[in-house]
Amino acid sequence: MCGIVGIIGKDNATDILVQGLEKLEYRGYDSAGIFVTGKEQEEYLVKSLGRIADLQNKISPEVQGTVGIGHTRWATHGKPSERNAHPHTSSNRQFILVHNGVIENFEEIKQEFLQTKSLEGETDTEIAVHLIEHFAETGLSTKEAFKKALTVINGSYAFALIDKNDPDTIYVAKNKSPLLIGLGEDFNVICSDAMAMLTETNHFVEIADGEMVIVKADKIVIEDQKGNLVYRESYEAQLDLSDIEKGTYPYYMLKEIDDQPAVMRRIVQEYTNTLGETIIDEKIIETITASDRIYIVACGTSYNAGWVGKALLEKMTNIPVEVHLSSEFGYNMPLLSEKPFFIFLSQSGETADSRQVLVQVNEQGFSSLTLTNVVGSTLSREADYTLLLHAGPEIAVASTKAYTAQIAVLAVLAKAVGDNKRNQFSLDFDIAHELSVIAAVIETIIDEKMLISQLVEEYLTTTRNAFYIGRGVDYYVSMEASLKLKEISYIQAEGFAAGELKHGTIALVEEGTPVFGIITDKKTAAHTRGNLKEVESRGAHNFVIALASLSKETDQFIIPDVHPLLTPLVSVVPTQLIAYFATLQRGYDVDKPRNLAKSVTVE
Ligand code: M6R
Repeated sequence: MCGIVGIIGKDNATDILVQGLEKLEYRGYDSAGIFVTGKEQEEYLVKSLGRIADLQNKISPEVQGTVGIGHTRWATHGKPSERNAHPHTSSNRQFILVHNGVIENFEEIKQEFLQTKSLEGETDTEIAVHLIEHFAETGLSTKEAFKKALTVINGSYAFALIDKNDPDTIYVAKNKSPLLIGLGEDFNVICSDAMAMLTETNHFVEIADGEMVIVKADKIVIEDQKGNLVYRESYEAQLDLSDIEKGTYPYYMLKEIDDQPAVMRRIVQEYTNTLGETIIDEKIIETITASDRIYIVACGTSYNAGWVGKALLEKMTNIPVEVHLSSEFGYNMPLLSEKPFFIFLSQSGETADSRQVLVQVNEQGFSSLTLTNVVGSTLSREADYTLLLHAGPEIAVASTKAYTAQIAVLAVLAKAVGDNKRNQFSLDFDIAHELSVIAAVIETIIDEKMLISQLVEEYLTTTRNAFYIGRGVDYYVSMEASLKLKEISYIQAEGFAAGELKHGTIALVEEGTPVFGIITDKKTAAHTRGNLKEVESRGAHNFVIALASLSKETDQFIIPDVHPLLTPLVSVVPTQLIAYFATLQRGYDVDKPRNLAKSVTVE
């Protein structure tokens, strides 16, 4: 989703901004822009629809300065266009602003304060910059005008503001949208994601909601809402530039699929000791053990991982588990049990839909845990506990290694709580060994890439739609497999409970419709095969992904056997590769599907 970068105190501000925006491309955007100025008060505003490469083509050599802000926009208010792209300027061109988030009361602000202003575009951000100008016109300093505007604005925001009459300062503020200050020697940077500025620094300072920061080349000053000074230590980002580069891979998605065996091994290393025992904070284990119901709350791929987590947790802990979509749960909260425990699954740790649930959970005083890939992310900071996924940065919009990492960490957590409750199934389950087997099996699947590519040519080159079917955990994987396929290849795909298809949706099956059956569970294998026969008789082109012990010679893709509870960790891998090759063969951008953002920071 939208991204912010800023720099103050370096001669090559333009290059730093553009490189920073490139690093944010993966988050999804439809337009971009930069504003650059400096001591001589030269000023350049360049905006473009489309990719950063299009913006770069519009930046002429004289666009230079020592201070600047940049933005990638994912349209919410107003269609993608150059006019609606950020940075936005006030009517008198004195103030220049970039914004992530959504201003909820922008209509009211317009009515109350901006009747005399003429606005160029349709964005809520333009309202904000005009509001700052409005308060400055009443005689307030830039800082005070900005502060006053913040008291009027409702909603989520990360703002970076430049007053072109004072190019020694960038003013920033945040509420519910991520923003960091990066510290350098005689320069400072701002960014909505540390990755954007790793080439400049790996020392960052977090900003809390409601704070304003005055950023100069040689210092930063943080103030809370009441104007009190806030002192906060910086932290070192445990990120390496090589983690965020794709090296020899054509796409991040392929690299991230290939990363999965290493991620499984890292999870074993981080969460188990040499005796194979789990290493998880005792407080987490005790709190879950004392709970009477676990609520998993998540969106998209993380939600799909949550269903597999439910199977694992219920089997090993005997605690009932419910899985909920964040965007529904927040506004239609079900009746809760007496001692609920909340688990938030979020690769990015920034998803606004999940965050609004966590805010309510905190207000009601319930215990919570976030499983996330991003250290210091909002959901991590705001939950009682965090377990990291240790998957390394996931850049492709289509989530792959975060899904398997979430399931693996949930398996470790289930084992830890299960052992604490002396659950026999859990006590017999050697998690370190089983995850190591998983790592090796994923490697063998990845080695079969070319076979999958050939099969995809046969099954998916021209189809408009496709189905994934399965039962139990195979159904859960079908949901994830179809999400993967549709979000990047644009083939309309549905993941269905195999037995449910005949209750209506089978009407969509016609001659040649690809139907992928996932078969990894002994007790349901025969039934799913029966359902596959039903669709075959109606013309479906069946593709079976089966565990070796349940396979038939005619099956298209066979997976070595793994522990029955962990089959989703391997059965999902061919489906990731199917989505990847289908997209490649259709000529679409695998890493940056249309309309999507990596981190969805608006509700
Ligand atoms: O960062 P999160 O895990 O909270 O993101 C939730 C979804 O937006 C995300 O899983 C999305 O569905 C995937 N990128 C799809 O591949």
